[in-house]
Amino acid sequence: MCGIIGYIGDKEANDILIKGLEQLEYRGYDSAGIAIIDNNQIRINKVLGRVQNLKQRKLIGNIGIGHTRWATHGKPSDRNAHPFLDQRNNFVVVHNGIIENYLELKEKLRKEGITFTSDTDSEVIVHLISQNYHGNLKEAVLKTVKELIGSYAFCVIKNDWQELVAARNGSPLVVGLGKDENFLASDVSALVEHTRDVIYVNDFEIVKIKKDQVKIYDFEGNKKDYNIRTIDWDLEQAQKDGYKHFMLKEIFEQPKVVEESIKIKFGLKKEYSRIIIVACGTASYAGLVGKYLIERIARIPVINETASEFRYKDPIINKNDLIIAISQSGETADTLAAIKLAKEKGAKTFGLINVIDSTIAREVDDVVYTRAGPEIGVASTKAFISQLVTLYKLAFYLANKDTESDDQLKRLKPIIIEALSLNESIKKIAEQYYTHSNFLYIGRNLSFPLALEGALKLKEISYIHAEAYPAGELKHGPIALVSEETPTVAICPQDQVYDKTRNNIEEIKARLGKVISIATIGDERIKEISDNIIYIPKVEEIFYPLVITIPLQLLAYHIADLRECDIDKPRNLAKSVTVE
Ligand code: AGP
Repeated sequence: MCGIIGYIGDKEANDILIKGLEQLEYRGYDSAGIAIIDNNQIRINKVLGRVQNLKQRKLIGNIGIGHTRWATHGKPSDRNAHPFLDQRNNFVVVHNGIIENYLELKEKLRKEGITFTSDTDSEVIVHLISQNYHGNLKEAVLKTVKELIGSYAFCVIKNDWQELVAARNGSPLVVGLGKDENFLASDVSALVEHTRDVIYVNDFEIVKIKKDQVKIYDFEGNKKDYNIRTIDWDLEQAQKDGYKHFMLKEIFEQPKVVEESIKIKFGLKKEYSRIIIVACGTASYAGLVGKYLIERIARIPVINETASEFRYKDPIINKNDLIIAISQSGETADTLAAIKLAKEKGAKTFGLINVIDSTIAREVDDVVYTRAGPEIGVASTKAFISQLVTLYKLAFYLANKDTESDDQLKRLKPIIIEALSLNESIKKIAEQYYTHSNFLYIGRNLSFPLALEGALKLKEISYIHAEAYPAGELKHGPIALVSEETPTVAICPQDQVYDKTRNNIEEIKARLGKVISIATIGDERIKEISDNIIYIPKVEEIFYPLVITIPLQLLAYHIADLRECDIDKPRNLAKSVTVE
């Protein structure tokens, strides 16, 4: 999603802004731009495509803002790239979020003689600020936010004004504190190179930043206190360490992540009659594994809800329900809205979140951090495994079996390392299949959410169409897709449904479908019905999802790499989805 960076200080802003935008690239974007004040003139450099392209020009000045855009309103183009100027070139704005009443505002502004230079919703903000300005930039922003409906974090600078002014309602914003310089960003990763001291801006707050001063106000203009937080991860954690892609590096970090996530402790009461898990994408598939685990281990009923559906379906939420949000970024707009709704209805909310102090982490009643560390690749890998480990821990905790389970979980790290040693053999399988256009993924029981996750990984980064089904559903429709051209990834560990899944594989083979089986080492019988086998280490049945995750990620990775896809920044995708 869109990224924002701002700088005010004594240094040249150009390189700081561009570097900051490079740190935000992982969020996904289609165009980028910066604006810098040079002798009371606003200069703009904005381009369609990569941040890299901004380096062809150098702007001069010590106050500036920058943006990476992920198109929502108006196609990706130079014209629709941020920042946006007002008509007199006095104000310039970058915006993240969606202005829902922009058409109405555009109409009003047009009647007042404003000509728009883009097709975006964002441009209305700069014209409103310009109209509302009567000698004080913060006051102009205060007036403007009263006219806006939607979600936003925006930042404005004025040609002859030594200040950045920003406002937040629903999209992330963080201030970085330096010595005689200050920063603003949508994400701490853009700030870590310069400072560890940050202030998280809350919803309905306006922040006024000079090079040696930060002031925060509510939307009524009242001054507010703030806390300075120290962030504890560094840039090195966000480098590739010699791996070709962040995604591969993050896949190989998983043994360490498992070790870290095992350390999580819960303080939650155990009095809930029902649990509802809300999440999106990969996090929701982790949630589905969580359902199987919590129901099986703790015998508490669990409902899984896609957050974007949950928020609009008038859900039944009881006061003694526990609503669990799972999110890597902690900024996903739909998951956040689902949590707000649950709180309104009086339920207890609990977050399994990776990014510390993110919006959802701060919104929920209680939070545990999943400890994956910064995840840069847009396709979630290590965050997923950390969510799984956290859900195992939660299930055992709710069942009062934490101590024995910790011993079992600790034995998993070497097994994950063993699964990673399959990398080269999986690459060979990928070489055989990377030209196919369609894939099926099947699994039963605990392996079904893994089939969903495997298919999502493949489509996200290789752009191959992949469908996932519970293996038992095949003959209710999807088996019609089976042919020599459509390979099936069959997840068939030696668990209680092994024979059932095996039967489904037989059905595929009978229809000449190619099968890549993910099976337990030593399973000789699977050879008769598989074209390729990825043998995973043997573990206690309930832990197979943790092990199966690895080959699914590696298979998707190598297929995408062979297709020369932009693995860390797949087309159309954003790392944190801060708009609904
Ligand atoms: C994962 O590979 C995806 N990029 C996506 O599905 C992601 O899991 C989803 O958008 C939820 O994000 P979150 O965990 O940050 O809330």
